[in-house]
Amino acid sequence: MKSKIKRKYSIGVFDSGLGGIQILKHIAKELPQYDYVYLGDTARVPYGGRSQEVIYEFTVQAVNFLFKKGCHLIIFACNTVSSKALRRIQKEYLPKNYPDKKVLGVIIPVSEMAAKKTKNKRIGVIATQGTVSSGAFGRELLKINPEIKLFQQACPLLVPIIEAGEEKSKVSELMLQKYLKPIIKNKADTLILGCTHYRFLENKIRKIIGKDMRLINEGKIIAEKLKDYLERHQEVENMLQKKSKLRFFSTDLTEKFEIMGSRFFGKKIKPERAKLE
Ligand code: DGL
Repeated sequence: MKSKIKRKYSIGVFDSGLGGIQILKHIAKELPQYDYVYLGDTARVPYGGRSQEVIYEFTVQAVNFLFKKGCHLIIFACNTVSSKALRRIQKEYLPKNYPDKKVLGVIIPVSEMAAKKTKNKRIGVIATQGTVSSGAFGRELLKINPEIKLFQQACPLLVPIIEAGEEKSKVSELMLQKYLKPIIKNKADTLILGCTHYRFLENKIRKIIGKDMRLINEGKIIAEKLKDYLERHQEVENMLQKKSKLRFFSTDLTEKFEIMGSRFFGKKIKPERAKLE
């Protein structure tokens, strides 16, 4: 009698650009056994200043691409996507088109960690304009603890500075001083780095905020949350391929993706071109 071989699936990680690669780095370190497919929409990054409708449309295309590439579960590593498109994808798009597939974002786990870490219930967040205007961090934090006060700062220049490889320059320091000033003034004791890219500014941020403010860094939190999710959802875990394979796709195949992506991932990556429809 022939035994029926069940198809096994990968985990997808989607970001508007390159920054999500360092989230995948943490995930792959924590959970090295699984297969991963990364997609960065580098042809259209940044998403940060775009409208909700456009971010949703781009995200639908990314989701279709990753499911076609054999993913069963997708992590939106991008805060802008998580705050502006995740809910609609989960509530409208998946039930109609992929009822058995899963999509998870970064806002809830990061908010939970920040709420746990704060002592004075004053939390700062730096993020893109899109994430700030969505109010997503505020909504989640208030659900966890209505006493929390959130101080948000949109930092539209930081992603372009990092994408240009200028994170060590004087200009990044000047912009950080300007962006962090209101958060320091409001005496936040915890700071969320609410954007995939900001980890690359961590040393400079630490210098400006001083040693006492807690920094909430997304990569490690997302990796631990995913581990916990898979432990609790054995039906999803059982469907995953465990061959430790990694594939990287970008919508614009440039030398920069390979060079910066390899730097973000901590080892050499070989990106492939993705065509989104
Ligand atoms: N990946 C985005 C985020 O985490 C930042 C880059 C962008 O603006 O697209 O919000």
